[in-house]
Amino acid sequence: MELQEAIGTRRSYRFLLPHKPVELEKIQKMLEAARLASFWGNVQALRAVVVRREHASEEVMDALFALVAGFQIRRAPVVIVWYLDYAALDVQGDRLEELVRARALGVDEDAALAFLDETLIPFFEAAMPHIKQTGLTDLDCGQGIAQATLVAVEQGLGTCLLGSAKAEDLKRVLSLPETAKVLVLQCVGYPAETREAGGQRPRLPFEELYSLDACGTPFPRDPDVVQDLRDSRMLQEPAPLPWRQEELDMLQRALDLPDF
Ligand SMILES: Cc1cc2nc3c(=O)[nH]c(=O)nc-3n(C[C@H](O)[C@H](O)[C@H](O)COP(=O)(O)O)c2cc1C
Repeated sequence: MELQEAIGTRRSYRFLLPHKPVELEKIQKMLEAARLASFWGNVQALRAVVVRREHASEEVMDALFALVAGFQIRRAPVVIVWYLDYAALDVQGDRLEELVRARALGVDEDAALAFLDETLIPFFEAAMPHIKQTGLTDLDCGQGIAQATLVAVEQGLGTCLLGSAKAEDLKRVLSLPETAKVLVLQCVGYPAETREAGGQRPRLPFEELYSLDACGTPFPRDPDVVQDLRDSRMLQEPAPLPWRQEELDMLQRALDLPDF
């Protein structure tokens, strides 16, 4: 599947085949994609524990709890617990030095290393409490999770992100470090629903979201580009497709689901 089609096809797949395990190779490719994502200062604070339902204790399953649409977790063959490890920020200087030595930062290596020691690293150390508040690190983690999600779609899998309602319990039962912050749970499996999953979910109008040169001047949306994106299947039919309710009724019976 091409990238644009994968972006268009990616949905929150809430209905997964409970009985069909996911090959670890496919999960590995998701993790490999997450690992390659960009990070400010290359800190790489995104971590994950992959939980296979078949191997999970009742204690772990209880801690894998989400308030909204939590039924998905009990049926998902795999749940990836994504977390941010703040300990990665404490060794950020090492990551910067690696960037310089990889010739990805600075033009002259010796001058760049000196600049790191004298200016950049002390600056980041002083600014770290503020940086932790900015959400920058969380944003980078999101980029990693997004890359993993696209690789999942490309491999025929479906995923759905769920906010964790028992983050502290999860930290304990999965032995996450004290410095961890649980970000989100990602159910992974083979979709039980059609790939369209009822169609493209509602999005706010393009012009309302994006500006050109100054906020309030809508970025002009070229209809030819829109047509191109329809052709490449990045833009797909809006939800609900006419037969969605029948599909939901069928899924509810097949998967023994609650009304909500
Ligand atoms: C970070 C994040 C957390 C989410 N948490 C939940 C959740 O706790 N429960 C839920 O039902 N859906 C959750 N979702 C799914 C969204 O509701 C979903 O993305 C949205 O309805 C749009 O659908 P789409 O992903 O198919 O475009 C979450 C999505 C994201 C990106």
